[in-house]
Parts: sequence; structure tokens; C-alpha cells
Amino acid sequence: MKVLLTGGAGYIGSHTAVVLLEAGHEVVVLDDLSNASVESLRRVEELTGRTVAFVHGDMVDEALVERTLTEHAVEAVIHFAGLKAVGDSVRRPLDYYAVNVGGTLSLLRAMERTGVRTIVFSSSATVYGESAPTPYLEKMPRDAANPYGRTKEQIEDVLGDLGASDPSWRIALLRYFNPVGAHPSGRIGENPRGVPNNLVPFIAQVAVGKREKLVVFGDDYDTPDGTCVRDYVHVMDLADGHVRAMDYVAGHEGVHVWNLGAGRGYSVLEVLASFEKAVGRPIPHEIGPRRAGDLPAFWADPSQALTDLGWVAETPLDQMCADHWRWQESNPHGYAD
Ligand code: WQD
Repeated sequence: MKVLLTGGAGYIGSHTAVVLLEAGHEVVVLDDLSNASVESLRRVEELTGRTVAFVHGDMVDEALVERTLTEHAVEAVIHFAGLKAVGDSVRRPLDYYAVNVGGTLSLLRAMERTGVRTIVFSSSATVYGESAPTPYLEKMPRDAANPYGRTKEQIEDVLGDLGASDPSWRIALLRYFNPVGAHPSGRIGENPRGVPNNLVPFIAQVAVGKREKLVVFGDDYDTPDGTCVRDYVHVMDLADGHVRAMDYVAGHEGVHVWNLGAGRGYSVLEVLASFEKAVGRPIPHEIGPRRAGDLPAFWADPSQALTDLGWVAETPLDQMCADHWRWQESNPHGYAD
């Protein structure tokens, strides 16, 4: 199929582009490059020997999206584009609602006008909120506790209402847990702008000498070693999940939701120890105060994705850290190298 990836030059988008191209699909990327580098797409082409059509623009530009869908005869959309930092969303909620919700409405309007009815949406485990019992199940109520999570929840509602209003829509909502790792070649990987919010890219930048030390945000939680537990999932497994979900909804009308997590948790100190194994030396760190909003522990129940999609994320933590490190070590400055 001809697939449009919004935000496709980004971390998960670029890895999904590789899996799509290797499965024989054609890929068009629309990206405003606000948090991505077009170099990632050049390397996707290098890795796959296939070409990627690139449109530099903003999904909020309905006319541009419509032209892109028509000119490239797009048959399905995988929608990654959006702002995604929880703390940042608390500081500037209006930007998050304008970009994430407003941008998605523009995209959907353009799809409606051009007759493209298949979409896979990048949602997040953050929609489950602070009171959901672990492991998270798709049927659990949502109760996002920050503006970023609320934009994801609202977009899920928009897509749910759209699917209910017109049965020709084929919609997949994918709730990510904690994506980490990189393509095994080390040629593409996570390339956050500025100071990384997330644990593994921060550890990787300490290991490569770009940051002085890791601060562990609290070791007094009610968990086995006192540090928070999360469901880390390899980005290549996540990419595979997107292609399987797209193939599934291409044949099943309506709205479908799946957790994309491994179904088990690792603590901050376990991740750090695994990364130190990959690097081959200790990584400077200290215990600091808790970060506001962090939950002690959560992970996915991914059994629905296994049943419906045959999807399972079983890449072990050491492999995720080794792949992440190979990318960071060979690209100390990300795509700027
Ligand atoms: C993981 C653990 C931190 C950095 C977030 C978003 C979620 C999703 C994934 C988009 C926590 C600890 C972190 C550091 C630390 N993003 N940590 N020192 O918070 O589980 O999820 O990213 O969909 O929506 O909420 O991921 O990587 O930020 O943190 O100790 O410098 O690492 O406290 O326990 P999180 P994270």
C-alpha cells in the first residue's frame, strides 16, 4: 500500500518507515522537522534501498495534506506527528491542543475529502491516568492526568466518534508504553532536541559524554529497588506493531485499540545496569528527588495485540540497551554528525 507517515522523520516514524518499505509498501513522509532531521529519511533509504517521498510541511495545513494524499495516491495514514513531552505540555498546553488535536482534525478533514479512510494513530499509555491498576488493559477507563495525555485521549475520542459516524473508517489506536532502542545497524535512532526528558536517551547522552551524570528521580517508591518501573519496548518491535495494525484495519472496519508494550516492567536502576553492560563501564549517576507526576510502576497487558495481530514484543532489555548504545556511540551528536 501507499502509506503516508505524518511525523515520519522522527524516532518511531523512521523505524516504521524501514519496516513498511521492507514489507513492500511505499512511503510518503509529511514532517515539519520541528523535532526531526531529514537525514533520518536519507538513512532509511540507505538501509532499505528504497526511496521515501518527503513533504516538508505542517499537518495543520489542510490544503497541503490534501495535495499530498491526492498526488501520492495515499491509501493509509500512520499518524505520528505531535508534541509529546508531559512536562512541556503542562507549561504550554495551548500549543499541545493546537498541534496535537487541531493538527489531527486538519489531517482527518483532508482524509475525509480525499476518500482516505484508514488511519493508525500513535496514542499513549498516558491515557490510563494515575488510578488504573497494573497491568493496563485496553478496556480500562481512561483518565489522563496531564495536557499531553489529554490530547491523546481527546484524539482517541474524535476517532471513536468518526468511526461510529461512518463505518467506512478503519481506525487503529496504538497505546505505546516506553519506546527505546534503535535499528540494529545503528544508522537511525532517537535524536531528541535539547535535554532529553526520557530515561534511556538521557543515559545514552551521559555515556557518550554529552551530559555529566544521570539523576535518578527518586529511589523511595514502593517498588523492588525503590525506583520506578516501566514497560520498555524496542522501537523495532513497536514499528512491527504499526505495520501489523495497519494490515489488520485495512481488512476490518471500525475502531480498534491495542496496547503496544512488552507486558513486563524494569526499574530505572535495572535499565541503568543494563546500559552499563552495553557500554562496558559504569555510568555516572546520583539519586535525586522524585519528578512530579511520576507513577511508581505500570506496564501493559499486551494479550489483545497478540490475539488480533500476532504481535509480541520480546526483545530483551540488554538487546534494547545494546542497540540504543550502538546508535548513540556511532552518532554522538545524533543526525548532526
Ligand atoms: C521513565 C523513568 C523517571 C529521566 C514518558 C511519557 C509517556 C511516553 C514515554 C510519550 C521514570 C525516570 C527519567 C531521568 C529518571 N511518552 N527518569 N531520570 O515518564 O514513563 O513516560 O515517556 O508517549 O507519555 O510520560 O518515561 O523515560 O521520562 O521516565 O530517573 O533523567 O525514568 O522518573 O521513572 P515515562 P521517562
